[in-house]
Amino acid sequence: MGFYREESIEEVRDRIDIVDLVSAYVTLKKTGKNYVGLCPFHSEKTPSFTVNREKGIYHCFGCQAGGDAFSFLMEHEHLDFPEALEELARRAGVQLEEDESGPFRGKPKDHSKELAINLEAARYFYKVMGSETGSAAVAYLLGRNVEAQTRRAFKLGYAPDSWDALLKHFESQDVVPTDVEKAGLAIRHEEKGTYYSRFRGRLMFPIENVRGEIIGFGGRVIGTGEPKYLNSPESALFQKKDQLYGLSLGLAEIRRTSRVLLMEGYMDVIMSHQHGFTSAVASLGTALTAEQARLISRYAREVVIVYDNDSAGIKAAKKAVQAFGDRDVLVRVADLRDAKDPDEFINSHGRDAFEEVISAALPAYEYLIRMGKKQHDMRNIEEKVSLISELLPFLADMNNRVKQAEYVRMTARELDVSADSIVFELKKHEENRRVKLKREEDTDRKHRLQKQQSKTSAAETVIPGERQLAGICLREPSIYREIQSEIEGLVCRDPLVRQVFDRMRALTASEKPFTFHDVVAGLQDEEIRKQVIPLCLAEHSPADPGTARDWIVSLRRAELRHRIDELMEKIEFLEKEGKMDELLEIGKRLRTLQSELNRI
Ligand code: UTP
Ligand code: MN
Repeated sequence: MGFYREESIEEVRDRIDIVDLVSAYVTLKKTGKNYVGLCPFHSEKTPSFTVNREKGIYHCFGCQAGGDAFSFLMEHEHLDFPEALEELARRAGVQLEEDESGPFRGKPKDHSKELAINLEAARYFYKVMGSETGSAAVAYLLGRNVEAQTRRAFKLGYAPDSWDALLKHFESQDVVPTDVEKAGLAIRHEEKGTYYSRFRGRLMFPIENVRGEIIGFGGRVIGTGEPKYLNSPESALFQKKDQLYGLSLGLAEIRRTSRVLLMEGYMDVIMSHQHGFTSAVASLGTALTAEQARLISRYAREVVIVYDNDSAGIKAAKKAVQAFGDRDVLVRVADLRDAKDPDEFINSHGRDAFEEVISAALPAYEYLIRMGKKQHDMRNIEEKVSLISELLPFLADMNNRVKQAEYVRMTARELDVSADSIVFELKKHEENRRVKLKREEDTDRKHRLQKQQSKTSAAETVIPGERQLAGICLREPSIYREIQSEIEGLVCRDPLVRQVFDRMRALTASEKPFTFHDVVAGLQDEEIRKQVIPLCLAEHSPADPGTARDWIVSLRRAELRHRIDELMEKIEFLEKEGKMDELLEIGKRLRTLQSELNRI
Protein backbone atom coordinates (compact mmCIF):
# COMPACT_ATOMS: atom_id res chain seq x y z
CA MET A 1 0.00 0.00 0.00
CA GLY A 2 1.45 3.28 -1.04
CA PHE A 3 1.09 6.82 0.15
CA TYR A 4 -1.74 8.90 -1.19
CA ARG A 5 -1.57 12.48 -2.26
CA GLU A 6 -3.04 15.03 0.12
CA GLU A 7 -5.16 16.34 -2.77
CA SER A 8 -6.77 12.94 -3.25
CA ILE A 9 -7.60 12.79 0.44
CA GLU A 10 -9.16 16.24 0.27
CA GLU A 11 -11.17 15.27 -2.76
CA VAL A 12 -12.60 12.25 -0.98
CA ARG A 13 -13.39 14.39 2.04
CA ASP A 14 -15.20 16.93 -0.12
CA ARG A 15 -17.23 14.38 -1.98
CA ILE A 16 -18.31 12.26 0.98
CA ASP A 17 -21.45 13.47 2.67
CA ILE A 18 -20.86 12.69 6.33
CA VAL A 19 -24.58 12.73 7.08
CA ASP A 20 -25.15 10.01 4.46
CA LEU A 21 -22.20 8.04 5.74
CA VAL A 22 -23.28 8.14 9.37
CA SER A 23 -26.94 7.55 8.50
CA ALA A 24 -26.09 4.05 7.40
CA TYR A 25 -25.38 3.27 11.04
CA VAL A 26 -27.24 5.87 13.08
CA THR A 27 -30.73 7.33 12.76
CA LEU A 28 -30.17 11.06 12.56
CA LYS A 29 -32.58 13.92 13.16
CA LYS A 30 -32.01 17.44 11.92
CA THR A 31 -31.80 20.13 14.56
CA GLY A 32 -30.67 23.52 13.29
CA LYS A 33 -27.53 23.12 11.24
CA ASN A 34 -26.62 19.84 12.90
CA TYR A 35 -27.97 16.34 12.90
CA VAL A 36 -28.22 14.37 16.11
CA GLY A 37 -28.71 10.73 16.98
CA LEU A 38 -27.78 8.01 19.43
CA CYS A 39 -24.03 7.57 19.63
CA PRO A 40 -22.82 4.35 18.01
CA PHE A 41 -19.69 4.34 20.17
CA HIS A 42 -21.30 4.13 23.58
CA SER A 43 -24.74 3.13 24.74
CA GLU A 44 -27.08 5.99 25.52
CA LYS A 45 -30.76 6.76 25.44
CA THR A 46 -30.69 10.51 24.86
CA PRO A 47 -28.98 11.53 21.63
CA SER A 48 -25.72 13.38 22.13
CA PHE A 49 -24.07 12.35 18.88
CA THR A 50 -23.87 15.41 16.63
CA VAL A 51 -23.03 15.55 12.94
CA ASN A 52 -22.40 18.63 10.86
CA ARG A 53 -22.76 18.15 7.14
CA GLU A 54 -21.14 21.39 6.08
CA LYS A 55 -17.99 20.77 8.12
CA GLY A 56 -17.96 17.04 7.54
CA ILE A 57 -17.43 16.28 11.21
CA TYR A 58 -19.11 14.55 14.12
CA HIS A 59 -18.83 14.75 17.85
CA CYS A 60 -20.43 12.92 20.74
CA PHE A 61 -21.05 15.14 23.74
CA GLY A 62 -21.50 11.99 25.80
CA CYS A 63 -18.33 10.00 25.16
CA GLN A 64 -16.20 12.62 23.39
CA ALA A 65 -15.80 10.48 20.29
CA GLY A 66 -15.28 12.78 17.37
CA GLY A 67 -13.66 13.37 14.02
CA ASP A 68 -14.33 13.31 10.31
CA ALA A 69 -15.60 10.77 7.80
CA PHE A 70 -12.29 8.89 7.91
CA SER A 71 -12.15 8.55 11.65
CA PHE A 72 -15.83 7.57 11.76
CA LEU A 73 -15.24 4.65 9.44
CA MET A 74 -11.99 3.77 11.18
CA GLU A 75 -13.65 3.58 14.57
CA HIS A 76 -16.84 1.98 13.42
CA GLU A 77 -15.40 -0.66 11.13
CA HIS A 78 -12.06 -1.09 12.84
CA LEU A 79 -10.11 0.01 9.82
CA ASP A 80 -6.79 1.78 9.68
CA PHE A 81 -6.51 5.09 7.89
CA PRO A 82 -5.53 3.78 4.44
CA GLU A 83 -8.33 1.21 4.55
CA ALA A 84 -10.92 3.84 5.47
CA LEU A 85 -9.56 6.15 2.80
CA GLU A 86 -9.73 3.46 0.15
CA GLU A 87 -13.27 2.50 1.10
CA LEU A 88 -14.50 6.10 1.04
CA ALA A 89 -12.66 6.78 -2.22
CA ARG A 90 -14.44 3.82 -3.72
CA ARG A 91 -17.81 5.12 -2.57
CA ALA A 92 -17.07 8.62 -3.76
CA GLY A 93 -15.71 7.40 -7.08
CA VAL A 94 -12.37 9.09 -6.50
CA GLN A 95 -9.26 7.61 -8.08
CA LEU A 96 -6.62 7.82 -5.37
CA GLU A 97 -3.32 9.12 -6.58
CA GLU A 98 -0.23 7.70 -4.96
CA ASP A 99 2.49 9.94 -3.77
CA GLU A 100 5.62 8.20 -2.59
CA SER A 101 7.07 11.21 -0.87
CA GLY A 102 3.95 12.76 0.60
CA PRO A 103 3.09 12.69 4.24
CA PHE A 104 0.88 9.86 5.35
CA ARG A 105 -1.76 11.10 7.70
CA GLY A 106 -1.92 9.08 10.86
CA LYS A 107 0.79 6.53 11.45
CA PRO A 108 -0.19 3.21 9.95
CA LYS A 109 0.66 0.31 12.21
CA ASP A 110 3.70 -1.22 10.66
CA HIS A 111 3.82 -4.98 10.96
CA SER A 112 5.78 -5.53 7.79
CA LYS A 113 8.68 -7.21 9.57
CA GLU A 114 6.51 -9.75 11.41
CA LEU A 115 4.51 -10.37 8.23
CA ALA A 116 7.67 -11.02 6.27
CA ILE A 117 8.90 -13.44 8.93
CA ASN A 118 5.57 -15.27 9.03
CA LEU A 119 5.57 -15.57 5.26
CA GLU A 120 9.10 -16.91 5.23
CA ALA A 121 8.25 -19.38 8.00
CA ALA A 122 5.22 -20.59 6.04
CA ARG A 123 7.45 -21.11 2.99
CA TYR A 124 9.91 -23.00 5.11
CA PHE A 125 7.23 -25.24 6.69
CA TYR A 126 5.78 -25.89 3.23
CA LYS A 127 9.17 -26.91 1.91
CA VAL A 128 9.88 -29.18 4.87
CA MET A 129 6.54 -30.88 4.31
CA GLY A 130 7.62 -31.76 0.79
CA SER A 131 10.95 -33.18 2.02
CA GLU A 132 11.87 -36.47 3.66
CA THR A 133 11.27 -34.94 7.13
CA GLY A 134 7.66 -34.18 6.26
CA SER A 135 6.66 -37.64 5.05
CA ALA A 136 4.66 -38.51 8.19
CA ALA A 137 2.75 -35.23 7.92
CA VAL A 138 1.97 -35.86 4.26
CA ALA A 139 0.76 -39.34 5.12
CA TYR A 140 -1.38 -37.92 7.91
CA LEU A 141 -3.06 -35.46 5.54
CA LEU A 142 -3.62 -38.16 2.95
CA GLY A 143 -5.20 -40.31 5.66
CA ARG A 144 -7.63 -37.46 6.26
CA ASN A 145 -8.39 -37.09 2.55
CA VAL A 146 -6.70 -33.71 2.15
CA GLU A 147 -5.63 -33.46 -1.49
CA ALA A 148 -2.34 -31.97 -2.61
CA GLN A 149 -4.16 -29.07 -4.25
CA THR A 150 -5.94 -28.22 -1.00
CA ARG A 151 -2.67 -28.46 0.90
CA ARG A 152 -1.29 -25.89 -1.52
CA ALA A 153 -4.29 -23.57 -1.34
CA PHE A 154 -4.12 -23.49 2.45
CA LYS A 155 -0.29 -23.36 2.41
CA LEU A 156 -0.14 -26.23 4.90
CA GLY A 157 3.30 -27.18 6.09
CA TYR A 158 5.26 -29.11 8.66
CA ALA A 159 7.36 -27.77 11.51
CA PRO A 160 10.19 -30.26 12.00
CA ASP A 161 10.60 -31.84 15.41
CA SER A 162 13.64 -29.74 16.21
CA TRP A 163 14.48 -27.02 18.74
CA ASP A 164 16.52 -24.92 16.39
CA ALA A 165 15.96 -25.85 12.74
CA LEU A 166 13.67 -22.86 12.08
CA LEU A 167 16.03 -20.47 13.86
CA LYS A 168 18.97 -21.78 11.84
CA HIS A 169 16.96 -21.22 8.69
CA PHE A 170 16.28 -17.64 9.69
CA GLU A 171 19.92 -17.14 10.65
CA SER A 172 20.87 -18.04 7.09
CA GLN A 173 18.48 -15.30 5.97
CA ASP A 174 20.04 -12.77 8.37
CA VAL A 175 16.98 -12.66 10.57
CA VAL A 176 17.89 -12.43 14.27
CA PRO A 177 16.20 -14.66 16.89
CA THR A 178 14.63 -11.68 18.71
CA ASP A 179 12.65 -10.87 15.58
CA VAL A 180 11.59 -14.49 15.18
CA GLU A 181 10.43 -14.34 18.78
CA LYS A 182 8.50 -11.12 18.14
CA ALA A 183 6.65 -12.87 15.34
CA GLY A 184 5.67 -15.54 17.87
CA LEU A 185 7.62 -18.36 16.22
CA ALA A 186 10.37 -18.69 18.81
CA ILE A 187 10.51 -18.66 22.59
CA ARG A 188 13.36 -17.31 24.72
CA HIS A 189 14.77 -19.66 27.30
CA GLU A 190 14.68 -17.57 30.47
CA GLU A 191 17.84 -18.97 32.13
CA LYS A 192 20.02 -19.70 29.15
CA GLY A 193 18.93 -16.67 27.17
CA THR A 194 18.81 -18.77 24.03
CA TYR A 195 15.91 -19.20 21.65
CA TYR A 196 13.99 -22.28 20.51
CA SER A 197 11.14 -23.00 18.11
CA ARG A 198 7.62 -22.72 19.46
CA PHE A 199 6.23 -25.24 16.95
CA ARG A 200 7.93 -28.64 16.82
CA GLY A 201 6.71 -31.75 15.04
CA ARG A 202 3.43 -30.13 14.10
CA LEU A 203 1.29 -29.79 11.00
CA MET A 204 1.22 -26.04 10.34
CA PHE A 205 -1.87 -24.05 9.35
CA PRO A 206 -0.95 -20.49 8.35
CA ILE A 207 -3.68 -18.07 9.45
CA GLU A 208 -4.34 -15.20 7.09
CA ASN A 209 -6.19 -11.96 7.65
CA VAL A 210 -8.80 -10.81 5.15
CA ARG A 211 -6.05 -9.36 2.96
CA GLY A 212 -4.27 -12.67 2.74
CA GLU A 213 -1.34 -11.70 4.94
CA ILE A 214 -0.11 -14.43 7.25
CA ILE A 215 -0.59 -13.12 10.76
CA GLY A 216 -0.16 -16.31 12.76
CA PHE A 217 -0.17 -20.09 12.78
CA GLY A 218 -2.09 -22.98 14.20
CA GLY A 219 -0.01 -26.13 14.68
CA ARG A 220 -1.61 -29.56 15.05
CA VAL A 221 0.02 -32.61 16.55
CA ILE A 222 0.34 -35.47 14.11
CA GLY A 223 -2.04 -38.01 15.54
CA THR A 224 -2.86 -37.59 19.20
CA GLY A 225 -1.24 -35.43 21.88
CA GLU A 226 -1.72 -32.33 23.94
CA PRO A 227 -2.41 -29.64 23.13
CA LYS A 228 -4.05 -30.75 19.90
CA TYR A 229 -3.59 -27.32 18.40
CA LEU A 230 -0.96 -24.85 19.45
CA ASN A 231 -1.53 -21.32 18.15
CA SER A 232 0.69 -18.29 17.73
CA PRO A 233 0.52 -16.05 20.79
CA GLU A 234 -1.77 -13.05 20.68
CA SER A 235 -0.07 -9.84 19.60
CA ALA A 236 -0.96 -6.48 18.11
CA LEU A 237 -0.84 -8.24 14.75
CA PHE A 238 -2.52 -11.51 15.69
CA GLN A 239 -5.77 -11.05 17.57
CA LYS A 240 -7.95 -14.08 17.32
CA LYS A 241 -11.10 -12.20 18.22
CA ASP A 242 -10.88 -10.21 14.97
CA GLN A 243 -10.05 -13.06 12.60
CA LEU A 244 -11.80 -15.82 10.72
CA TYR A 245 -9.87 -18.76 9.32
CA GLY A 246 -10.52 -19.23 5.59
CA LEU A 247 -11.92 -15.75 5.01
CA SER A 248 -9.16 -14.61 2.66
CA LEU A 249 -9.65 -17.65 0.43
CA GLY A 250 -13.43 -17.52 0.61
CA LEU A 251 -13.97 -13.82 0.14
CA ALA A 252 -14.86 -13.91 -3.56
CA GLU A 253 -17.45 -16.65 -3.07
CA ILE A 254 -18.81 -14.99 0.06
CA ARG A 255 -19.29 -11.75 -1.81
CA ARG A 256 -20.88 -13.55 -4.76
CA THR A 257 -23.37 -15.54 -2.69
CA SER A 258 -23.58 -13.06 0.20
CA ARG A 259 -23.45 -16.12 2.45
CA VAL A 260 -20.96 -17.45 4.99
CA LEU A 261 -20.74 -20.99 6.32
CA LEU A 262 -19.49 -20.65 9.86
CA MET A 263 -17.65 -23.62 11.37
CA GLU A 264 -15.54 -24.44 14.39
CA GLY A 265 -12.38 -26.09 13.12
CA TYR A 266 -9.51 -25.57 10.71
CA MET A 267 -10.09 -29.05 9.28
CA ASP A 268 -13.80 -28.36 8.76
CA VAL A 269 -13.00 -25.30 6.69
CA ILE A 270 -10.35 -27.10 4.70
CA MET A 271 -12.54 -30.08 3.88
CA SER A 272 -15.45 -27.79 2.96
CA HIS A 273 -13.31 -25.75 0.57
CA GLN A 274 -11.98 -28.94 -1.00
CA HIS A 275 -15.55 -29.93 -1.80
CA GLY A 276 -16.47 -26.60 -3.31
CA PHE A 277 -17.94 -24.93 -0.22
CA THR A 278 -15.50 -22.08 -0.41
CA SER A 279 -17.51 -19.69 1.72
CA ALA A 280 -16.63 -21.71 4.83
CA VAL A 281 -14.79 -19.91 7.63
CA ALA A 282 -14.00 -20.72 11.26
CA SER A 283 -13.53 -18.66 14.37
CA LEU A 284 -10.22 -19.56 15.92
CA GLY A 285 -11.04 -21.93 18.74
CA THR A 286 -13.00 -19.43 20.78
CA ALA A 287 -16.65 -18.49 20.97
CA LEU A 288 -17.68 -16.25 18.10
CA THR A 289 -16.91 -12.67 19.09
CA ALA A 290 -18.91 -9.55 18.33
CA GLU A 291 -16.01 -8.44 16.10
CA GLN A 292 -16.16 -11.63 14.07
CA ALA A 293 -19.94 -11.26 13.74
CA ARG A 294 -19.41 -7.73 12.52
CA LEU A 295 -16.79 -8.92 10.05
CA ILE A 296 -19.22 -11.47 8.65
CA SER A 297 -22.03 -8.94 8.40
CA ARG A 298 -19.74 -6.70 6.40
CA TYR A 299 -19.55 -9.23 3.57
CA ALA A 300 -22.71 -11.31 3.81
CA ARG A 301 -26.44 -11.08 4.42
CA GLU A 302 -26.72 -14.66 5.55
CA VAL A 303 -24.72 -16.98 7.76
CA VAL A 304 -25.23 -20.69 8.23
CA ILE A 305 -23.74 -21.99 11.46
CA VAL A 306 -22.39 -25.52 11.04
CA TYR A 307 -20.89 -26.25 14.42
CA ASP A 308 -19.90 -29.58 15.93
CA ASN A 309 -22.68 -31.93 16.79
CA ASP A 310 -22.01 -32.26 20.51
CA SER A 311 -23.22 -30.40 23.57
CA ALA A 312 -20.26 -28.00 23.40
CA GLY A 313 -21.05 -27.30 19.75
CA ILE A 314 -24.72 -26.67 20.48
CA LYS A 315 -23.82 -24.30 23.28
CA ALA A 316 -21.35 -22.53 21.01
CA ALA A 317 -23.99 -22.23 18.28
CA LYS A 318 -26.35 -20.50 20.73
CA LYS A 319 -23.57 -18.13 21.69
CA ALA A 320 -22.84 -17.43 18.04
CA VAL A 321 -26.50 -16.60 17.36
CA GLN A 322 -26.30 -14.22 20.29
CA ALA A 323 -23.15 -12.60 18.93
CA PHE A 324 -25.09 -11.53 15.86
CA GLY A 325 -27.60 -9.82 18.15
CA ASP A 326 -29.78 -7.49 16.12
CA ARG A 327 -27.39 -7.30 13.19
CA ASP A 328 -29.05 -7.35 9.82
CA VAL A 329 -27.94 -10.88 8.98
CA LEU A 330 -30.12 -13.92 8.49
CA VAL A 331 -28.69 -16.53 10.85
CA ARG A 332 -29.48 -20.20 10.33
CA VAL A 333 -28.17 -23.27 12.09
CA ALA A 334 -27.53 -26.58 10.36
CA ASP A 335 -28.00 -30.02 11.86
CA LEU A 336 -25.22 -32.50 11.04
CA ARG A 337 -27.37 -35.49 11.97
CA ASP A 338 -25.09 -38.45 12.75
CA ALA A 339 -21.75 -36.79 12.02
CA LYS A 340 -19.61 -35.12 14.67
CA ASP A 341 -18.39 -32.21 12.55
CA PRO A 342 -18.51 -30.89 8.95
CA ASP A 343 -15.23 -32.63 8.10
CA GLU A 344 -16.61 -36.00 9.13
CA PHE A 345 -19.98 -35.32 7.48
CA ILE A 346 -18.48 -34.48 4.09
CA ASN A 347 -16.13 -37.42 4.23
CA SER A 348 -18.86 -39.90 5.00
CA HIS A 349 -21.86 -38.46 3.12
CA GLY A 350 -20.33 -36.40 0.32
CA ARG A 351 -20.94 -33.07 -1.26
CA ASP A 352 -24.61 -33.29 -2.20
CA ALA A 353 -25.73 -34.42 1.23
CA PHE A 354 -23.82 -31.51 2.75
CA GLU A 355 -25.53 -29.13 0.35
CA GLU A 356 -28.87 -30.48 1.60
CA VAL A 357 -27.90 -30.03 5.22
CA ILE A 358 -27.06 -26.42 4.49
CA SER A 359 -30.26 -25.66 2.66
CA ALA A 360 -32.28 -27.38 5.37
CA ALA A 361 -30.64 -25.26 8.09
CA LEU A 362 -33.24 -23.78 10.40
CA PRO A 363 -33.61 -20.07 11.09
CA ALA A 364 -31.70 -19.50 14.35
CA TYR A 365 -34.75 -19.03 16.51
CA GLU A 366 -36.46 -22.17 15.29
CA TYR A 367 -33.27 -24.05 15.99
CA LEU A 368 -33.23 -22.70 19.53
CA ILE A 369 -36.79 -23.88 20.11
CA ARG A 370 -36.05 -27.30 18.71
CA MET A 371 -32.91 -27.74 20.82
CA GLY A 372 -34.66 -26.33 23.88
CA LYS A 373 -37.47 -28.83 23.55
CA LYS A 374 -34.93 -31.63 23.38
CA GLN A 375 -33.12 -30.42 26.48
CA HIS A 376 -36.12 -29.53 28.64
CA ASP A 377 -38.95 -31.82 29.66
CA MET A 378 -42.04 -30.07 28.29
CA ARG A 379 -44.37 -31.89 30.67
CA ASN A 380 -42.71 -30.10 33.57
CA ILE A 381 -43.94 -26.51 34.08
CA GLU A 382 -40.73 -25.27 35.71
CA GLU A 383 -38.70 -26.60 32.79
CA LYS A 384 -41.01 -24.84 30.37
CA VAL A 385 -40.61 -21.59 32.27
CA SER A 386 -36.85 -21.90 32.26
CA LEU A 387 -36.80 -22.57 28.50
CA ILE A 388 -38.92 -19.46 27.91
CA SER A 389 -36.51 -17.32 29.90
CA GLU A 390 -33.67 -18.72 27.78
CA LEU A 391 -35.55 -17.70 24.66
CA LEU A 392 -36.59 -14.22 25.77
CA PRO A 393 -33.26 -12.47 25.05
CA PHE A 394 -33.36 -13.76 21.48
CA LEU A 395 -36.94 -12.54 21.01
CA ALA A 396 -35.97 -9.19 22.49
CA ASP A 397 -33.09 -8.84 20.03
CA MET A 398 -35.41 -9.05 17.02
CA ASN A 399 -35.60 -5.56 15.64
CA ASN A 400 -38.55 -6.27 13.40
CA ARG A 401 -41.97 -6.19 15.06
CA VAL A 402 -43.65 -8.55 12.62
CA LYS A 403 -40.85 -11.05 12.92
CA GLN A 404 -40.96 -10.83 16.69
CA ALA A 405 -44.74 -11.29 16.79
CA GLU A 406 -44.54 -14.30 14.48
CA TYR A 407 -41.89 -15.92 16.63
CA VAL A 408 -43.87 -15.25 19.77
CA ARG A 409 -46.74 -17.14 18.15
CA MET A 410 -44.46 -19.97 17.15
CA THR A 411 -43.07 -20.20 20.68
CA ALA A 412 -46.57 -20.30 22.11
CA ARG A 413 -47.57 -23.04 19.71
CA GLU A 414 -44.45 -25.15 20.14
CA LEU A 415 -44.38 -24.90 23.92
CA ASP A 416 -48.11 -25.00 24.31
CA VAL A 417 -48.41 -21.79 26.31
CA SER A 418 -50.43 -18.61 25.67
CA ALA A 419 -48.91 -15.94 23.44
CA ASP A 420 -50.12 -13.28 25.87
CA SER A 421 -48.05 -14.68 28.68
CA ILE A 422 -44.95 -14.63 26.47
CA VAL A 423 -45.61 -11.04 25.43
CA PHE A 424 -46.00 -10.12 29.08
CA GLU A 425 -42.70 -11.77 30.04
CA LEU A 426 -41.01 -10.21 27.02
CA LYS A 427 -42.08 -6.73 28.16
CA LYS A 428 -40.77 -7.46 31.63
CA HIS A 429 -37.49 -8.66 30.18
CA GLU A 430 -37.14 -5.57 28.00
CA GLU A 431 -37.91 -3.31 30.93
CA ASN A 432 -35.29 -5.05 33.09
CA ARG A 433 -32.79 -4.73 30.32
CA ARG A 434 -33.57 -1.03 29.93
CA VAL A 435 -33.13 -0.41 33.63
CA LYS A 436 -29.86 -2.32 33.61
CA LEU A 437 -28.62 -0.44 30.56
CA LYS A 438 -29.64 2.85 32.10
CA ARG A 439 -27.81 1.99 35.30
CA GLU A 440 -24.69 1.07 33.32
CA GLU A 441 -25.02 4.24 31.31
CA ASP A 442 -25.29 6.33 34.47
CA THR A 443 -22.23 4.78 36.11
CA ASP A 444 -20.42 5.12 32.82
CA ARG A 445 -21.27 8.78 32.61
CA LYS A 446 -20.27 9.32 36.23
CA HIS A 447 -16.89 7.69 35.60
CA ARG A 448 -16.33 9.73 32.49
CA LEU A 449 -17.25 12.91 34.30
CA GLN A 450 -14.90 12.12 37.16
CA LYS A 451 -12.14 11.34 34.73
CA GLN A 452 -12.74 14.56 32.85
CA GLN A 453 -12.86 16.65 35.99
CA SER A 454 -9.63 15.30 37.37
CA LYS A 455 -8.00 15.84 34.01
CA THR A 456 -9.35 19.35 33.64
CA SER A 457 -8.29 20.51 37.06
CA ALA A 458 -4.86 18.98 36.67
CA ALA A 459 -3.90 19.99 33.20
CA GLU A 460 -5.94 22.88 31.97
CA THR A 461 -7.90 26.02 32.45
CA VAL A 462 -10.94 26.37 30.26
CA ILE A 463 -11.70 29.99 29.37
CA PRO A 464 -15.08 29.93 27.57
CA GLY A 465 -14.57 33.24 25.75
CA GLU A 466 -11.22 32.09 24.39
CA ARG A 467 -12.77 28.88 23.16
CA GLN A 468 -15.57 30.81 21.48
CA LEU A 469 -13.03 32.91 19.64
CA ALA A 470 -11.01 29.86 18.64
CA GLY A 471 -14.23 28.24 17.45
CA ILE A 472 -15.01 31.14 15.15
CA CYS A 473 -11.52 31.08 13.67
CA LEU A 474 -11.71 27.32 13.21
CA ARG A 475 -15.00 27.62 11.39
CA GLU A 476 -13.78 30.52 9.26
CA PRO A 477 -9.99 30.53 8.96
CA SER A 478 -10.22 33.67 6.81
CA ILE A 479 -11.37 35.55 9.90
CA TYR A 480 -8.22 34.48 11.67
CA ARG A 481 -6.13 35.94 8.90
CA GLU A 482 -8.09 39.16 9.06
CA ILE A 483 -7.69 39.71 12.78
CA GLN A 484 -4.47 37.83 13.41
CA SER A 485 -2.63 40.80 14.87
CA GLU A 486 -5.46 41.48 17.33
CA ILE A 487 -5.45 37.87 18.44
CA GLU A 488 -1.71 37.94 18.94
CA GLY A 489 -2.19 40.91 21.27
CA LEU A 490 -4.28 38.68 23.52
CA VAL A 491 -2.98 36.77 26.49
CA CYS A 492 -4.54 33.32 26.09
CA ARG A 493 -4.75 31.35 29.31
CA ASP A 494 -6.45 28.27 27.92
CA PRO A 495 -3.72 25.85 26.75
CA LEU A 496 -6.02 24.30 24.18
CA VAL A 497 -6.73 27.69 22.65
CA ARG A 498 -3.03 28.52 22.68
CA GLN A 499 -2.30 25.36 20.72
CA VAL A 500 -5.02 26.14 18.18
CA PHE A 501 -3.70 29.66 17.61
CA ASP A 502 -0.08 28.48 17.49
CA ARG A 503 -1.07 26.04 14.81
CA MET A 504 -3.01 28.68 12.87
CA ARG A 505 -0.11 31.07 13.04
CA ALA A 506 2.19 28.43 11.57
CA LEU A 507 -0.30 27.56 8.83
CA THR A 508 -0.81 31.22 7.97
CA ALA A 509 2.94 31.74 7.78
CA SER A 510 3.20 28.98 5.19
CA GLU A 511 0.81 31.06 3.08
CA LYS A 512 -1.23 28.05 2.03
CA PRO A 513 -4.97 28.32 2.49
CA PHE A 514 -6.09 25.94 5.21
CA THR A 515 -9.24 24.54 6.78
CA PHE A 516 -9.89 23.50 10.34
CA HIS A 517 -8.98 19.95 9.29
CA ASP A 518 -5.40 21.10 8.86
CA VAL A 519 -5.48 22.72 12.26
CA VAL A 520 -6.92 19.65 13.95
CA ALA A 521 -4.59 17.28 12.13
CA GLY A 522 -1.60 19.22 13.41
CA LEU A 523 -2.50 18.90 17.08
CA GLN A 524 -0.32 16.31 18.72
CA ASP A 525 -2.48 15.39 21.68
CA GLU A 526 -5.42 13.10 20.91
CA GLU A 527 -7.32 14.45 23.95
CA ILE A 528 -6.94 18.01 22.77
CA ARG A 529 -7.96 17.06 19.24
CA LYS A 530 -11.18 15.61 20.59
CA GLN A 531 -11.93 18.75 22.57
CA VAL A 532 -11.28 21.00 19.59
CA ILE A 533 -13.81 19.30 17.35
CA PRO A 534 -16.90 20.49 19.26
CA LEU A 535 -15.57 24.04 18.88
CA CYS A 536 -15.81 23.64 15.13
CA LEU A 537 -19.44 22.60 15.54
CA ALA A 538 -20.54 25.36 17.92
CA GLU A 539 -23.41 27.34 16.51
CA HIS A 540 -24.55 29.60 19.26
CA SER A 541 -22.34 32.40 18.09
CA PRO A 542 -22.14 33.35 14.41
CA ALA A 543 -18.77 33.04 12.71
CA ASP A 544 -18.18 36.55 11.40
CA PRO A 545 -15.42 39.11 11.97
CA GLY A 546 -17.75 41.34 14.01
CA THR A 547 -18.49 38.61 16.53
CA ALA A 548 -14.82 37.67 16.67
CA ARG A 549 -13.92 41.29 17.46
CA ASP A 550 -16.59 41.38 20.17
CA TRP A 551 -14.96 38.38 21.79
CA ILE A 552 -11.54 39.95 21.50
CA VAL A 553 -12.82 43.07 23.23
CA SER A 554 -14.42 41.11 26.02
CA LEU A 555 -11.28 39.01 26.46
CA ARG A 556 -9.11 42.11 26.59
CA ARG A 557 -11.44 43.61 29.15
CA ALA A 558 -11.34 40.43 31.19
CA GLU A 559 -7.57 40.44 31.03
CA LEU A 560 -7.39 44.10 32.11
CA ARG A 561 -9.82 43.46 34.96
CA HIS A 562 -7.71 40.56 36.03
CA ARG A 563 -4.59 42.69 36.10
CA ILE A 564 -6.40 45.51 37.88
CA ASP A 565 -7.56 43.05 40.53
CA GLU A 566 -3.99 41.91 40.99
CA LEU A 567 -2.80 45.50 41.44
CA MET A 568 -5.59 46.26 43.92
CA GLU A 569 -4.47 43.35 46.03
CA LYS A 570 -0.93 44.54 45.88
CA ILE A 571 -1.99 48.06 46.89
CA GLU A 572 -3.85 46.70 49.88
CA PHE A 573 -0.72 44.87 50.92
CA LEU A 574 1.55 47.88 50.43
CA GLU A 575 -0.80 50.13 52.40
CA LYS A 576 -0.60 47.74 55.35
CA GLU A 577 3.16 47.75 55.09
CA GLY A 578 3.21 51.53 54.65
CA LYS A 579 5.40 51.50 51.56
CA MET A 580 4.50 54.85 50.08
CA ASP A 581 6.85 55.20 47.09
CA GLU A 582 5.96 51.78 45.78
CA LEU A 583 2.28 52.66 46.26
CA LEU A 584 2.68 55.73 44.08
CA GLU A 585 4.25 53.68 41.33
CA ILE A 586 1.56 50.98 41.44
CA GLY A 587 -1.19 53.60 41.58
CA LYS A 588 0.11 55.07 38.33
CA ARG A 589 0.03 51.69 36.66
CA LEU A 590 -3.46 51.09 37.98
CA ARG A 591 -4.75 54.31 36.45
CA THR A 592 -3.23 53.45 33.08
CA LEU A 593 -4.97 50.12 33.10
CA GLN A 594 -8.24 51.68 34.18
CA SER A 595 -8.20 54.27 31.43
CA GLU A 596 -7.31 51.55 28.93
CA LEU A 597 -10.30 49.57 30.17
CA ASN A 598 -12.52 52.62 29.73
CA ARG A 599 -11.27 53.15 26.21
CA ILE A 600 -12.27 49.74 24.89
P1 UTP B 1 -11.57 -29.26 17.03
O1 UTP B 1 -11.01 -30.10 18.11
O2 UTP B 1 -12.98 -29.50 16.60
O3 UTP B 1 -10.58 -29.31 15.82
O4 UTP B 1 -11.39 -27.76 17.49
P2 UTP B 1 -10.70 -29.65 14.28
O5 UTP B 1 -10.36 -28.45 13.49
O6 UTP B 1 -11.98 -30.35 13.99
O7 UTP B 1 -9.47 -30.59 14.12
P3 UTP B 1 -9.38 -32.16 13.91
O8 UTP B 1 -10.48 -32.55 13.01
O9 UTP B 1 -9.49 -32.79 15.26
O10 UTP B 1 -8.04 -32.31 13.33
C1 UTP B 1 -11.93 -26.70 16.75
C2 UTP B 1 -10.96 -25.58 16.68
O11 UTP B 1 -10.62 -25.13 17.96
C3 UTP B 1 -9.28 -24.69 18.01
C4 UTP B 1 -8.76 -24.84 16.58
O12 UTP B 1 -8.97 -23.61 15.91
C5 UTP B 1 -9.63 -25.93 16.03
O13 UTP B 1 -9.68 -25.90 14.64
N1 UTP B 1 -8.48 -25.50 18.95
C6 UTP B 1 -8.84 -26.77 19.27
C7 UTP B 1 -7.36 -24.94 19.50
O14 UTP B 1 -7.02 -23.79 19.22
N2 UTP B 1 -6.59 -25.69 20.36
C8 UTP B 1 -6.92 -26.96 20.68
O15 UTP B 1 -6.17 -27.60 21.45
C9 UTP B 1 -8.07 -27.50 20.13
MN1 MN C 1 -12.55 -32.32 13.49
